[in-house]
Amino acid sequence: MPDCTELNVWGELVAHQKVMRAVSMRTLFSGDTERFQQFSLMVGGIFLDYSKHLVNVETMNLLMTLARESGVTEATRAMFNGEKINTTENRAVLHTALRASQCAGRDVLVDGKAVLPQISEVLSHMRTFTQHVRDGHWLGYTGRRITDVVNIGIGGSDLGPAMVTQALRPYWQTGLTAHFVSNVDPSHIVETLAKVQAETTLFIVASKSFGTPETLLNAQVARQWLLEQAQDEKAVARHFVAVSTHTEKVKAFGIDAANMFGFWDWVGGRYSVWSAVGLSVALMVGMDRFEQLLAGACEMDAHFLTAPLDQNMPVIMALLGIWYNDFWGAQCHAVFPYDQYLARFPAYLQQLDMESNGKGVSRNGKAVRCTTGPVVWGEPGTNGQHAFYQLLHQGTRLIPVDFLAAAESRRPLGHQHETLLANCFAQSKALMLGKTAEEVEIELRASGLSGEVLQALLPHKVFPGNRPSSTLLYRKLDPYTLGALICLYEHKVFVQGVIWQINSFDQWGVELGKQLAVSIEQDLLESGHTLAHDASTNGLIELFHALRDGGE
Ligand code: F6P
Repeated sequence: MPDCTELNVWGELVAHQKVMRAVSMRTLFSGDTERFQQFSLMVGGIFLDYSKHLVNVETMNLLMTLARESGVTEATRAMFNGEKINTTENRAVLHTALRASQCAGRDVLVDGKAVLPQISEVLSHMRTFTQHVRDGHWLGYTGRRITDVVNIGIGGSDLGPAMVTQALRPYWQTGLTAHFVSNVDPSHIVETLAKVQAETTLFIVASKSFGTPETLLNAQVARQWLLEQAQDEKAVARHFVAVSTHTEKVKAFGIDAANMFGFWDWVGGRYSVWSAVGLSVALMVGMDRFEQLLAGACEMDAHFLTAPLDQNMPVIMALLGIWYNDFWGAQCHAVFPYDQYLARFPAYLQQLDMESNGKGVSRNGKAVRCTTGPVVWGEPGTNGQHAFYQLLHQGTRLIPVDFLAAAESRRPLGHQHETLLANCFAQSKALMLGKTAEEVEIELRASGLSGEVLQALLPHKVFPGNRPSSTLLYRKLDPYTLGALICLYEHKVFVQGVIWQINSFDQWGVELGKQLAVSIEQDLLESGHTLAHDASTNGLIELFHALRDGGE
Protein backbone atom coordinates (compact mmCIF):
# COMPACT_ATOMS: atom_id res chain seq x y z
CA MET A 1 0.00 0.00 0.00
CA PRO A 2 1.57 3.34 -1.02
CA ASP A 3 1.80 6.09 1.59
CA CYS A 4 -1.51 7.99 1.74
CA THR A 5 0.23 11.11 0.43
CA GLU A 6 1.28 9.18 -2.70
CA LEU A 7 -2.29 8.34 -3.69
CA ASN A 8 -3.50 10.39 -6.66
CA VAL A 9 -6.54 11.44 -4.73
CA TRP A 10 -4.32 13.02 -2.05
CA GLY A 11 -2.97 15.46 -4.66
CA GLU A 12 -6.50 16.05 -5.92
CA LEU A 13 -7.61 16.92 -2.39
CA VAL A 14 -4.70 19.35 -2.04
CA ALA A 15 -5.82 21.10 -5.23
CA HIS A 16 -9.48 20.98 -4.25
CA GLN A 17 -8.74 22.60 -0.89
CA LYS A 18 -7.32 25.63 -2.76
CA VAL A 19 -10.66 25.99 -4.53
CA MET A 20 -12.66 25.49 -1.33
CA ARG A 21 -10.66 28.19 0.46
CA ALA A 22 -12.52 30.72 -1.64
CA VAL A 23 -15.96 29.22 -0.97
CA SER A 24 -18.16 30.43 1.84
CA MET A 25 -20.61 28.25 3.69
CA ARG A 26 -23.18 31.03 3.37
CA THR A 27 -23.01 30.56 -0.39
CA LEU A 28 -23.11 26.79 -0.11
CA PHE A 29 -26.34 27.02 1.90
CA SER A 30 -27.98 29.69 -0.23
CA GLY A 31 -27.14 27.78 -3.41
CA ASP A 32 -28.59 24.47 -2.23
CA THR A 33 -31.89 24.17 -0.37
CA GLU A 34 -31.27 20.43 0.14
CA ARG A 35 -27.88 20.86 1.80
CA PHE A 36 -29.09 19.95 5.32
CA GLN A 37 -30.82 16.79 4.03
CA GLN A 38 -27.88 15.87 1.84
CA PHE A 39 -25.22 16.27 4.50
CA SER A 40 -26.87 14.55 7.44
CA LEU A 41 -27.81 11.04 8.55
CA MET A 42 -29.27 9.14 11.50
CA VAL A 43 -27.81 5.93 13.01
CA GLY A 44 -28.53 4.22 16.33
CA GLY A 45 -30.63 7.15 17.52
CA ILE A 46 -27.85 9.65 16.74
CA PHE A 47 -28.42 12.31 14.12
CA LEU A 48 -25.30 13.77 12.51
CA ASP A 49 -25.60 17.15 10.81
CA TYR A 50 -22.43 17.77 8.84
CA SER A 51 -23.83 20.43 6.55
CA LYS A 52 -21.92 23.20 8.35
CA HIS A 53 -18.60 22.06 6.90
CA LEU A 54 -16.31 23.43 4.22
CA VAL A 55 -17.37 20.67 1.84
CA ASN A 56 -19.42 20.18 -1.29
CA VAL A 57 -20.34 17.04 -3.21
CA GLU A 58 -16.95 16.98 -4.90
CA THR A 59 -15.13 17.19 -1.55
CA MET A 60 -17.08 14.26 -0.17
CA ASN A 61 -16.51 12.22 -3.34
CA LEU A 62 -12.77 12.81 -3.17
CA LEU A 63 -12.69 11.93 0.52
CA MET A 64 -14.64 8.73 -0.16
CA THR A 65 -12.11 7.82 -2.84
CA LEU A 66 -9.37 8.36 -0.26
CA ALA A 67 -11.14 5.97 2.13
CA ARG A 68 -11.69 3.38 -0.60
CA GLU A 69 -8.14 3.49 -1.92
CA SER A 70 -6.74 3.34 1.62
CA GLY A 71 -8.45 0.00 2.15
CA VAL A 72 -10.86 1.10 4.90
CA THR A 73 -13.39 -1.62 4.04
CA GLU A 74 -10.78 -4.39 4.04
CA ALA A 75 -9.18 -3.14 7.27
CA THR A 76 -12.60 -3.01 8.96
CA ARG A 77 -13.29 -6.62 8.01
CA ALA A 78 -9.85 -7.65 9.26
CA MET A 79 -10.55 -6.05 12.64
CA PHE A 80 -13.99 -7.63 13.05
CA ASN A 81 -12.60 -11.01 11.91
CA GLY A 82 -10.04 -11.06 14.70
CA GLU A 83 -6.95 -10.71 12.55
CA LYS A 84 -3.89 -9.60 14.52
CA ILE A 85 -3.96 -6.03 13.24
CA ASN A 86 -2.11 -4.72 16.31
CA THR A 87 1.14 -5.88 14.76
CA THR A 88 3.62 -4.38 17.23
CA GLU A 89 1.98 -6.32 20.05
CA ASN A 90 0.91 -9.28 17.89
CA ARG A 91 -2.68 -8.95 19.05
CA ALA A 92 -6.15 -9.06 17.60
CA VAL A 93 -8.36 -6.04 18.24
CA LEU A 94 -11.77 -7.31 19.24
CA HIS A 95 -13.58 -4.84 21.45
CA THR A 96 -16.35 -5.21 18.84
CA ALA A 97 -16.80 -8.85 19.96
CA LEU A 98 -17.59 -7.67 23.51
CA ARG A 99 -20.91 -6.32 22.32
CA ALA A 100 -21.62 -8.80 19.51
CA SER A 101 -23.89 -11.00 21.64
CA GLN A 102 -26.32 -8.07 21.98
CA CYS A 103 -27.19 -8.08 18.28
CA ALA A 104 -26.49 -11.62 17.09
CA GLY A 105 -23.01 -10.74 15.90
CA ARG A 106 -21.07 -13.78 14.79
CA ASP A 107 -18.30 -15.45 16.75
CA VAL A 108 -14.62 -15.20 15.86
CA LEU A 109 -11.61 -17.29 16.78
CA VAL A 110 -8.44 -15.93 18.35
CA ASP A 111 -5.59 -18.44 18.40
CA GLY A 112 -8.15 -21.12 17.57
CA LYS A 113 -10.45 -20.25 20.48
CA ALA A 114 -13.97 -18.86 20.07
CA VAL A 115 -14.31 -15.56 21.91
CA LEU A 116 -18.09 -15.25 22.44
CA PRO A 117 -18.38 -18.10 24.99
CA GLN A 118 -15.56 -16.51 27.04
CA ILE A 119 -17.29 -13.13 26.90
CA SER A 120 -20.68 -14.49 27.91
CA GLU A 121 -19.12 -16.32 30.86
CA VAL A 122 -17.71 -13.05 32.21
CA LEU A 123 -20.97 -11.20 31.52
CA SER A 124 -22.86 -13.78 33.52
CA HIS A 125 -20.34 -13.55 36.39
CA MET A 126 -20.85 -9.77 36.30
CA ARG A 127 -24.64 -10.23 36.34
CA THR A 128 -24.61 -12.51 39.38
CA PHE A 129 -22.18 -10.35 41.30
CA THR A 130 -23.83 -7.01 40.54
CA GLN A 131 -27.25 -8.43 41.43
CA HIS A 132 -25.93 -9.64 44.76
CA VAL A 133 -24.42 -6.29 45.61
CA ARG A 134 -27.46 -4.33 44.44
CA ASP A 135 -30.04 -6.49 46.22
CA GLY A 136 -28.04 -6.72 49.45
CA HIS A 137 -27.00 -10.38 49.28
CA TRP A 138 -23.37 -9.33 49.13
CA LEU A 139 -22.56 -7.72 52.45
CA GLY A 140 -19.55 -6.02 53.98
CA TYR A 141 -17.55 -7.51 56.87
CA THR A 142 -19.97 -6.24 59.53
CA GLY A 143 -23.02 -7.51 57.68
CA ARG A 144 -24.03 -4.13 56.26
CA ARG A 145 -24.98 -3.49 52.63
CA ILE A 146 -22.53 -1.94 50.19
CA THR A 147 -23.23 1.78 49.78
CA ASP A 148 -20.11 2.95 47.95
CA VAL A 149 -18.19 1.57 44.98
CA VAL A 150 -14.62 2.83 44.52
CA ASN A 151 -13.00 2.01 41.17
CA ILE A 152 -9.22 2.19 41.38
CA GLY A 153 -7.64 2.29 37.92
CA ILE A 154 -6.06 4.71 35.47
CA GLY A 155 -6.21 5.44 31.73
CA GLY A 156 -8.63 3.04 30.07
CA SER A 157 -9.29 1.37 33.41
CA ASP A 158 -10.65 4.67 34.71
CA LEU A 159 -11.72 7.05 31.95
CA GLY A 160 -14.25 4.72 30.30
CA PRO A 161 -16.07 3.56 33.45
CA ALA A 162 -15.84 7.03 35.04
CA MET A 163 -17.26 8.76 31.96
CA VAL A 164 -20.05 6.21 31.43
CA THR A 165 -21.00 6.07 35.12
CA GLN A 166 -21.29 9.84 35.21
CA ALA A 167 -23.21 9.94 31.92
CA LEU A 168 -25.73 7.44 33.31
CA ARG A 169 -26.09 9.18 36.70
CA PRO A 170 -29.92 9.31 36.43
CA TYR A 171 -29.99 5.48 36.38
CA TRP A 172 -27.92 4.94 39.53
CA GLN A 173 -29.45 2.68 42.19
CA THR A 174 -30.61 4.69 45.18
CA GLY A 175 -28.27 4.13 48.10
CA LEU A 176 -25.22 3.38 45.95
CA THR A 177 -22.54 5.96 45.12
CA ALA A 178 -19.61 5.57 42.71
CA HIS A 179 -16.12 7.02 43.18
CA PHE A 180 -13.09 6.86 40.91
CA VAL A 181 -9.50 7.03 42.06
CA SER A 182 -6.85 7.24 39.36
CA ASN A 183 -4.11 9.71 40.22
CA VAL A 184 -1.04 8.56 42.15
CA ASP A 185 -1.23 11.93 43.93
CA PRO A 186 -2.10 10.70 47.43
CA SER A 187 -4.69 13.44 47.74
CA HIS A 188 -6.94 11.50 45.38
CA ILE A 189 -7.20 8.30 47.42
CA VAL A 190 -7.07 10.10 50.78
CA GLU A 191 -9.91 12.48 49.86
CA THR A 192 -11.96 9.58 48.51
CA LEU A 193 -11.47 7.38 51.57
CA ALA A 194 -12.56 10.31 53.73
CA LYS A 195 -15.98 10.15 52.06
CA VAL A 196 -16.69 6.43 52.59
CA GLN A 197 -16.92 3.86 55.40
CA ALA A 198 -14.83 0.70 55.28
CA GLU A 199 -17.68 -1.63 56.26
CA THR A 200 -19.90 -0.49 53.37
CA THR A 201 -17.36 0.14 50.59
CA LEU A 202 -16.50 -2.13 47.69
CA PHE A 203 -13.20 -1.53 45.91
CA ILE A 204 -12.75 -2.55 42.28
CA VAL A 205 -9.08 -2.72 41.35
CA ALA A 206 -9.16 -2.38 37.57
CA SER A 207 -5.97 -2.91 35.64
CA LYS A 208 -5.50 -4.85 32.43
CA SER A 209 -1.83 -5.48 33.23
CA PHE A 210 -2.20 -5.45 37.02
CA GLY A 211 1.22 -3.87 36.91
CA THR A 212 0.42 -0.17 36.70
CA PRO A 213 2.18 1.48 39.66
CA GLU A 214 -0.41 4.23 40.20
CA THR A 215 -3.21 1.69 40.51
CA LEU A 216 -1.32 -0.77 42.67
CA LEU A 217 -0.14 1.95 45.07
CA ASN A 218 -3.66 3.30 45.51
CA ALA A 219 -5.05 -0.23 45.89
CA GLN A 220 -2.48 -1.00 48.61
CA VAL A 221 -3.50 2.14 50.49
CA ALA A 222 -7.17 1.16 50.26
CA ARG A 223 -6.41 -2.39 51.41
CA GLN A 224 -4.37 -1.16 54.37
CA TRP A 225 -7.13 1.31 55.30
CA LEU A 226 -9.71 -1.47 55.23
CA LEU A 227 -7.57 -3.81 57.34
CA GLU A 228 -6.86 -1.12 59.94
CA GLN A 229 -10.58 -0.94 60.55
CA ALA A 230 -11.66 -4.53 59.98
CA GLN A 231 -8.67 -6.09 61.78
CA ASP A 232 -9.34 -9.26 59.82
CA GLU A 233 -7.73 -10.43 56.55
CA LYS A 234 -10.99 -12.17 55.62
CA ALA A 235 -12.60 -8.75 55.13
CA VAL A 236 -10.54 -8.26 51.96
CA ALA A 237 -12.62 -10.87 50.13
CA ARG A 238 -15.85 -8.97 50.96
CA HIS A 239 -14.48 -5.59 49.92
CA PHE A 240 -12.04 -6.11 47.05
CA VAL A 241 -12.65 -7.40 43.56
CA ALA A 242 -10.30 -7.16 40.59
CA VAL A 243 -10.72 -6.66 36.88
CA SER A 244 -7.69 -7.82 34.95
CA THR A 245 -6.17 -10.12 32.37
CA HIS A 246 -3.57 -11.38 34.91
CA THR A 247 -4.91 -13.93 37.39
CA GLU A 248 -1.52 -14.61 39.00
CA LYS A 249 -0.81 -10.96 39.73
CA VAL A 250 -4.31 -10.50 41.14
CA LYS A 251 -3.77 -13.44 43.50
CA ALA A 252 -0.33 -12.13 44.47
CA PHE A 253 -1.97 -8.84 45.45
CA GLY A 254 -4.22 -10.77 47.82
CA ILE A 255 -7.49 -10.81 45.90
CA ASP A 256 -9.21 -14.17 45.61
CA ALA A 257 -9.35 -15.39 41.99
CA ALA A 258 -13.08 -16.04 42.57
CA ASN A 259 -13.47 -12.27 42.95
CA MET A 260 -11.70 -11.55 39.71
CA PHE A 261 -13.42 -10.57 36.47
CA GLY A 262 -11.26 -11.39 33.50
CA PHE A 263 -10.75 -9.96 30.07
CA TRP A 264 -8.28 -10.58 27.28
CA ASP A 265 -5.24 -9.11 25.60
CA TRP A 266 -7.32 -8.51 22.46
CA VAL A 267 -9.17 -5.74 24.33
CA GLY A 268 -7.14 -2.52 24.34
CA GLY A 269 -7.25 -0.52 27.59
CA ARG A 270 -8.94 2.49 25.97
CA TYR A 271 -11.49 0.17 24.35
CA SER A 272 -12.22 -1.82 27.49
CA VAL A 273 -15.29 -0.20 29.03
CA TRP A 274 -17.41 -2.85 27.27
CA SER A 275 -15.60 -5.61 29.16
CA ALA A 276 -15.52 -6.29 32.91
CA VAL A 277 -13.75 -2.91 33.17
CA GLY A 278 -17.35 -1.65 33.04
CA LEU A 279 -18.12 -3.43 36.33
CA SER A 280 -18.59 -0.13 38.20
CA VAL A 281 -21.08 0.93 35.52
CA ALA A 282 -22.99 -2.35 35.87
CA LEU A 283 -23.04 -2.01 39.66
CA MET A 284 -24.44 1.50 39.48
CA VAL A 285 -27.04 1.10 36.72
CA GLY A 286 -27.66 -2.66 36.70
CA MET A 287 -26.63 -5.34 34.26
CA ASP A 288 -29.67 -4.89 31.99
CA ARG A 289 -28.71 -1.30 31.34
CA PHE A 290 -25.06 -2.23 30.90
CA GLU A 291 -26.22 -4.63 28.19
CA GLN A 292 -28.27 -1.82 26.61
CA LEU A 293 -25.01 0.13 26.40
CA LEU A 294 -23.47 -2.84 24.57
CA ALA A 295 -26.53 -3.11 22.32
CA GLY A 296 -26.26 0.54 21.25
CA ALA A 297 -22.62 -0.03 20.37
CA CYS A 298 -23.56 -3.19 18.52
CA GLU A 299 -25.99 -1.30 16.29
CA MET A 300 -23.22 1.16 15.44
CA ASP A 301 -20.83 -1.75 14.79
CA ALA A 302 -23.29 -3.34 12.37
CA HIS A 303 -23.79 -0.01 10.62
CA PHE A 304 -20.03 0.59 10.37
CA LEU A 305 -19.44 -2.90 9.00
CA THR A 306 -22.19 -2.86 6.39
CA ALA A 307 -23.13 0.69 5.33
CA PRO A 308 -21.59 2.01 2.12
CA LEU A 309 -18.70 4.38 2.81
CA ASP A 310 -20.63 7.50 1.79
CA GLN A 311 -23.49 6.67 4.17
CA ASN A 312 -21.29 5.45 6.96
CA MET A 313 -21.32 7.75 9.98
CA PRO A 314 -17.92 6.87 11.50
CA VAL A 315 -16.34 7.02 8.03
CA ILE A 316 -17.86 10.43 7.31
CA MET A 317 -16.68 11.84 10.65
CA ALA A 318 -13.20 10.38 10.14
CA LEU A 319 -12.90 11.88 6.66
CA LEU A 320 -14.06 15.31 7.81
CA GLY A 321 -11.38 15.15 10.51
CA ILE A 322 -8.74 14.24 7.92
CA TRP A 323 -9.93 17.00 5.61
CA TYR A 324 -9.15 19.68 8.20
CA ASN A 325 -6.17 17.92 9.80
CA ASP A 326 -4.26 17.17 6.63
CA PHE A 327 -5.51 19.67 4.07
CA TRP A 328 -6.42 22.78 6.08
CA GLY A 329 -3.67 22.56 8.71
CA ALA A 330 -6.04 22.30 11.69
CA GLN A 331 -4.10 21.29 14.80
CA CYS A 332 -6.91 20.26 17.05
CA HIS A 333 -10.45 19.00 17.28
CA ALA A 334 -12.89 20.30 19.87
CA VAL A 335 -15.81 18.36 21.36
CA PHE A 336 -18.46 20.31 23.23
CA PRO A 337 -21.25 18.30 24.85
CA TYR A 338 -24.25 20.51 25.61
CA ASP A 339 -25.08 17.78 28.08
CA GLN A 340 -23.73 18.02 31.60
CA TYR A 341 -23.83 14.25 32.00
CA LEU A 342 -21.20 14.04 29.26
CA ALA A 343 -18.80 16.32 31.13
CA ARG A 344 -16.07 13.66 31.08
CA PHE A 345 -16.63 12.71 27.44
CA PRO A 346 -13.88 15.01 26.07
CA ALA A 347 -11.37 13.57 28.57
CA TYR A 348 -12.40 10.06 27.55
CA LEU A 349 -11.98 10.96 23.87
CA GLN A 350 -8.55 12.38 24.56
CA GLN A 351 -7.24 8.94 25.46
CA LEU A 352 -9.25 7.18 22.76
CA ASP A 353 -8.03 9.47 19.99
CA MET A 354 -4.63 10.73 21.12
CA GLU A 355 -3.29 7.44 22.51
CA SER A 356 -4.56 5.67 19.38
CA ASN A 357 -3.50 8.06 16.65
CA GLY A 358 -0.72 10.13 18.21
CA LYS A 359 1.84 8.23 16.13
CA GLY A 360 4.63 9.37 13.82
CA VAL A 361 5.64 6.01 12.38
CA SER A 362 3.51 4.08 9.94
CA ARG A 363 2.70 0.39 10.12
CA ASN A 364 5.70 -0.41 7.92
CA GLY A 365 8.07 1.28 10.36
CA LYS A 366 8.75 4.38 8.26
CA ALA A 367 8.09 7.98 9.33
CA VAL A 368 4.63 9.12 8.24
CA ARG A 369 4.47 11.89 5.66
CA CYS A 370 1.07 13.19 6.64
CA THR A 371 -0.13 14.85 9.84
CA THR A 372 -1.72 12.31 12.18
CA GLY A 373 -3.96 12.59 15.26
CA PRO A 374 -5.16 16.02 16.34
CA VAL A 375 -5.15 17.46 19.84
CA VAL A 376 -8.61 16.64 21.19
CA TRP A 377 -10.13 18.85 23.83
CA GLY A 378 -13.44 20.16 25.07
CA GLU A 379 -15.70 21.19 27.90
CA PRO A 380 -19.42 21.06 28.39
CA GLY A 381 -21.49 23.88 26.93
CA THR A 382 -22.41 26.53 27.96
CA ASN A 383 -19.34 26.84 30.21
CA GLY A 384 -16.93 26.98 27.28
CA GLN A 385 -18.82 29.93 25.80
CA HIS A 386 -17.73 32.04 28.75
CA ALA A 387 -14.14 30.88 28.58
CA PHE A 388 -12.53 29.99 25.24
CA TYR A 389 -15.17 30.44 22.51
CA GLN A 390 -13.75 33.90 21.84
CA LEU A 391 -10.78 32.20 20.17
CA LEU A 392 -13.05 29.91 18.16
CA HIS A 393 -15.01 32.83 16.75
CA GLN A 394 -12.38 35.49 16.22
CA GLY A 395 -8.98 33.82 16.74
CA THR A 396 -6.62 32.96 13.91
CA ARG A 397 -6.91 29.19 14.15
CA LEU A 398 -9.24 26.80 12.38
CA ILE A 399 -10.78 24.53 15.01
CA PRO A 400 -13.37 22.01 13.82
CA VAL A 401 -15.97 21.36 16.48
CA ASP A 402 -18.38 18.56 17.38
CA PHE A 403 -21.45 19.80 19.25
CA LEU A 404 -23.39 17.11 21.14
CA ALA A 405 -26.88 17.58 22.53
CA ALA A 406 -29.98 15.69 23.68
CA ALA A 407 -33.48 16.76 22.65
CA GLU A 408 -34.83 15.61 26.00
CA SER A 409 -33.32 16.63 29.32
CA ARG A 410 -32.70 13.98 31.98
CA ARG A 411 -33.61 16.65 34.57
CA PRO A 412 -36.24 18.93 33.03
CA LEU A 413 -36.57 22.28 34.77
CA GLY A 414 -38.71 25.09 33.38
CA HIS A 415 -37.37 26.02 29.95
CA GLN A 416 -33.71 25.66 30.88
CA HIS A 417 -33.14 22.81 28.46
CA GLU A 418 -34.43 24.94 25.59
CA THR A 419 -32.02 27.69 26.73
CA LEU A 420 -29.18 25.15 26.64
CA LEU A 421 -30.04 23.94 23.15
CA ALA A 422 -30.61 27.44 21.83
CA ASN A 423 -27.04 28.20 22.84
CA CYS A 424 -25.75 25.05 21.18
CA PHE A 425 -27.49 25.74 17.87
CA ALA A 426 -26.57 29.44 18.06
CA GLN A 427 -22.88 28.63 18.40
CA SER A 428 -22.71 26.41 15.32
CA LYS A 429 -24.72 29.00 13.41
CA ALA A 430 -22.43 31.83 14.54
CA LEU A 431 -19.30 29.86 13.65
CA MET A 432 -20.70 29.15 10.22
CA LEU A 433 -22.24 32.54 9.33
CA GLY A 434 -19.95 34.89 11.18
CA LYS A 435 -20.85 38.56 10.92
CA THR A 436 -19.71 40.73 8.01
CA ALA A 437 -18.43 44.32 8.24
CA GLU A 438 -21.64 45.47 6.54
CA GLU A 439 -23.80 43.72 9.11
CA VAL A 440 -21.73 45.14 11.95
CA GLU A 441 -21.98 48.64 10.52
CA ILE A 442 -25.78 48.44 10.31
CA GLU A 443 -25.89 47.28 13.93
CA LEU A 444 -23.55 50.01 15.15
CA ARG A 445 -25.46 52.74 13.32
CA ALA A 446 -28.70 51.44 14.82
CA SER A 447 -27.14 51.78 18.26
CA GLY A 448 -26.35 55.43 17.57
CA LEU A 449 -22.64 55.24 16.63
CA SER A 450 -21.14 56.97 13.63
CA GLY A 451 -17.95 58.47 12.22
CA GLU A 452 -14.53 57.65 13.64
CA VAL A 453 -15.91 55.97 16.74
CA LEU A 454 -17.88 53.54 14.58
CA GLN A 455 -14.94 52.88 12.27
CA ALA A 456 -12.59 52.22 15.19
CA LEU A 457 -14.95 49.69 16.78
CA LEU A 458 -16.14 47.99 13.61
CA PRO A 459 -13.26 45.56 12.88
CA HIS A 460 -13.36 44.24 16.44
CA LYS A 461 -16.99 43.24 16.00
CA VAL A 462 -16.56 41.36 12.72
CA PHE A 463 -16.75 37.55 12.86
CA PRO A 464 -15.00 35.83 9.92
CA GLY A 465 -17.38 32.85 10.04
CA ASN A 466 -16.90 29.88 7.70
CA ARG A 467 -15.77 27.84 10.70
CA PRO A 468 -16.78 24.19 10.53
CA SER A 469 -18.77 22.12 12.98
CA SER A 470 -20.80 18.93 13.20
CA THR A 471 -23.84 18.63 15.43
CA LEU A 472 -24.77 15.28 16.95
CA LEU A 473 -28.33 15.31 18.23
CA TYR A 474 -30.06 12.43 20.01
CA ARG A 475 -33.36 12.06 21.86
CA LYS A 476 -31.94 11.47 25.32
CA LEU A 477 -28.76 10.17 26.87
CA ASP A 478 -29.89 6.64 27.68
CA PRO A 479 -27.52 3.64 27.86
CA TYR A 480 -28.30 2.55 24.29
CA THR A 481 -27.60 5.96 22.77
CA LEU A 482 -24.44 6.37 24.85
CA GLY A 483 -23.18 2.99 23.63
CA ALA A 484 -23.75 4.01 20.02
CA LEU A 485 -22.07 7.37 20.60
CA ILE A 486 -18.88 5.93 22.12
CA CYS A 487 -18.69 3.30 19.41
CA LEU A 488 -19.11 5.98 16.73
CA TYR A 489 -15.97 7.74 17.94
CA GLU A 490 -14.05 4.46 18.31
CA HIS A 491 -14.62 3.67 14.64
CA LYS A 492 -13.93 7.24 13.57
CA VAL A 493 -10.49 6.96 15.19
CA PHE A 494 -9.98 3.54 13.58
CA VAL A 495 -10.75 4.81 10.06
CA GLN A 496 -8.34 7.71 10.47
CA GLY A 497 -5.61 5.34 11.63
CA VAL A 498 -6.18 3.13 8.57
CA ILE A 499 -5.87 6.10 6.21
CA TRP A 500 -2.76 7.41 7.96
CA GLN A 501 -1.44 3.83 7.92
CA ILE A 502 -0.54 3.80 11.59
CA ASN A 503 -1.19 1.20 14.27
CA SER A 504 -3.98 2.75 16.35
CA PHE A 505 -3.80 0.00 18.95
CA ASP A 506 -0.39 0.22 20.59
CA GLN A 507 0.89 2.98 22.90
CA TRP A 508 4.67 2.80 23.06
CA GLY A 509 4.79 6.56 23.56
CA VAL A 510 3.75 6.21 27.20
CA GLU A 511 6.69 3.93 28.09
CA LEU A 512 9.69 6.26 28.17
CA GLY A 513 8.37 8.53 30.91
CA LYS A 514 7.39 5.47 32.97
CA GLN A 515 10.93 4.05 32.68
CA LEU A 516 12.64 7.31 33.59
CA ALA A 517 10.33 7.85 36.58
CA VAL A 518 11.72 4.70 38.22
CA SER A 519 15.29 6.05 38.61
CA ILE A 520 14.13 9.60 39.33
CA GLU A 521 11.94 8.31 42.15
CA GLN A 522 15.01 6.67 43.73
CA ASP A 523 16.80 10.02 43.58
CA LEU A 524 13.82 11.76 45.18
CA LEU A 525 13.69 9.21 47.98
CA GLU A 526 17.41 9.30 48.78
CA SER A 527 19.26 12.60 48.79
CA GLY A 528 22.98 13.23 49.02
CA HIS A 529 24.33 11.04 46.22
CA THR A 530 25.64 12.08 42.82
CA LEU A 531 22.89 12.62 40.28
CA ALA A 532 23.42 11.36 36.75
CA HIS A 533 20.63 13.04 34.80
CA ASP A 534 20.77 16.08 32.55
CA ALA A 535 21.45 19.41 34.26
CA SER A 536 17.79 20.46 34.32
CA THR A 537 16.55 17.21 35.86
CA ASN A 538 19.43 17.21 38.38
CA GLY A 539 18.61 20.80 39.27
CA LEU A 540 14.94 20.05 39.82
CA ILE A 541 15.72 17.05 42.01
CA GLU A 542 18.14 19.11 44.12
CA LEU A 543 15.64 21.93 44.46
CA PHE A 544 12.94 19.42 45.47
CA HIS A 545 15.17 18.20 48.31
CA ALA A 546 15.99 21.75 49.36
CA LEU A 547 12.36 22.89 49.35
CA ARG A 548 11.06 19.79 51.09
CA ASP A 549 13.76 19.92 53.72
CA GLY A 550 12.98 23.57 54.45
CA GLY A 551 15.88 25.17 52.57
CA GLU A 552 15.69 27.79 49.81
O1 F6P B 1 0.13 3.89 30.26
C1 F6P B 1 -0.91 3.83 29.34
C2 F6P B 1 -1.79 2.67 29.63
O2 F6P B 1 -1.16 1.48 29.28
C3 F6P B 1 -3.12 2.78 28.92
O3 F6P B 1 -3.09 2.36 27.62
C4 F6P B 1 -4.00 1.98 29.81
O4 F6P B 1 -5.35 2.24 29.58
C5 F6P B 1 -3.52 2.45 31.16
O5 F6P B 1 -2.13 2.59 31.00
C6 F6P B 1 -3.82 1.54 32.32
O6 F6P B 1 -3.28 0.27 32.15
P1 F6P B 1 -3.76 -0.95 33.02
O7 F6P B 1 -5.22 -1.15 32.78
O8 F6P B 1 -2.92 -2.10 32.58
O9 F6P B 1 -3.51 -0.60 34.47
